[in-house]
Amino acid sequence: MSEKVRSTWNTRAGFLLAAIGSAIGLGNIWRFPYIAYKNGGGAFLIPYAVAVLVVGIPLLILEQGIGNLYRASQPMAFAKIRKKFEVFGWWPVVMVMFGIMLFYTVVLGWCINYLVFSIDLSWGADTEAFFHNSFLGITSGPFDFGGLHYGVLLGTFLVWVLVWFISTRGVRRGLELANKIAIPLLVVLMVIMMVWNLFLDGSGAGIATFLRPDASRLTDPAVWTDAFSQVFFSLSVALGIMYAYASYLGPRAAIVNNSWITAAANSSFSIFAGMVVFATLGTMAHATGVPITEVVKGGPGLAFVIYPKAISLLPFGSRIFAVLFFLSLLLAGITSAISILESFVCSAIDKFKASRMKVVTLTCVVGFFGSMIFTTGAGLYWLDIVDYFIMNFGLLTVGLIEAVIIAWIFGVEKLGKSVNAGSSWKVGRVWRYLLKYATPMVLVVLLVIAVVDNFKKPYGGYSWTALTIIGVGWIVMTILLSIFISKRR
Ligand code: ALA
Repeated sequence: MSEKVRSTWNTRAGFLLAAIGSAIGLGNIWRFPYIAYKNGGGAFLIPYAVAVLVVGIPLLILEQGIGNLYRASQPMAFAKIRKKFEVFGWWPVVMVMFGIMLFYTVVLGWCINYLVFSIDLSWGADTEAFFHNSFLGITSGPFDFGGLHYGVLLGTFLVWVLVWFISTRGVRRGLELANKIAIPLLVVLMVIMMVWNLFLDGSGAGIATFLRPDASRLTDPAVWTDAFSQVFFSLSVALGIMYAYASYLGPRAAIVNNSWITAAANSSFSIFAGMVVFATLGTMAHATGVPITEVVKGGPGLAFVIYPKAISLLPFGSRIFAVLFFLSLLLAGITSAISILESFVCSAIDKFKASRMKVVTLTCVVGFFGSMIFTTGAGLYWLDIVDYFIMNFGLLTVGLIEAVIIAWIFGVEKLGKSVNAGSSWKVGRVWRYLLKYATPMVLVVLLVIAVVDNFKKPYGGYSWTALTIIGVGWIVMTILLSIFISKRR
């Protein structure tokens, strides 16, 4: 049976929780704390706030506004504006589904494993060797695959089964219900961890290290590019998600209010998560006498190497604390993963009028097989390269394209009127100016910086061959697939 009547959220709160659940994800708990700390701590909040206000919220309003106006996914909304724009709507949806989602589910698979390891703190004293060697079995380079890692594969499989299950239940009984349970629970778990930390020596100093402003970092352009790409990923813009979610709202929804609430909740959660993480690191610094500055690492390293070590060193209840932490990561990540899947599923249902069950099942099966490359011994290298290319080139280009199509061709005034119609908070001249001029200009500058940086020094010390085949190749593949899908009838 095809979906003849468009699904809707049960309540506005349900939609808001789902939008917030999409925004709050792995990006907030392990990416934000490190990025903020690396880029000047408290001072990073300045470029971060600028990025949220200049690009994040204007694009969030744009995406929710267009999704709600046409009550359609990004590709179908773009097709309604002009048939030839459909392909630009497919590109983010395909890139996110067959790019970010494939490794996002693998990282969530790690979380499931670490949740189990929490029971007896299996990572032992040398958490780095445990993560890299015993658990991931990392090989010598991106083309040395070294076989599949069954723990990681099983965890990834379970994640796909979970997102499949939630998604097949539909908008209300699946997405809305999952977020209604997961998001409040996540907040409670984080608060418990915060309070727990505050009883321990060193936590205050940890938080101070995180927030201490280092204003000298603000003159480095890399700090600004980091802020903008963090905001894109974290707010779930340029991923097609917000179009899909807002398309399930009734006509004339309170788009402006909803976008501000989503952004405010996401940013506050990020800062709070940063404080929780650094409070625990502070207790470790206190116990070992090694300053935090010497142990902090980014990306997976923070959550799966440094943090487990800090948890093991807690004076009491390490196992329970570990369960709380990995459960939080899992809850935050699952609510984002189902939104990424929905971006594609909603688009495919809109276009092919196929049943949700069929679309979700087929997408999850293909997705699971696609994820397998990230469960090999070379998985971490692939994850790093694909993540870097999609974040720094893919998402920024998508943001640029949508700002140009909507603000310049569709008409920013028309969109402004439409989003204001149902909102008690209105957008005005500033928003129109930001979307039409500031957002595209900023994105062009960031793209140029990213390209120049790469030519100066290949990313991450990888070979040009690896970066071209894996990074550029991946992006090109998503473009070809988008062209192929958009040409189907
Ligand atoms: N917005 C999601 C995150 O931060 C994708 O992880």
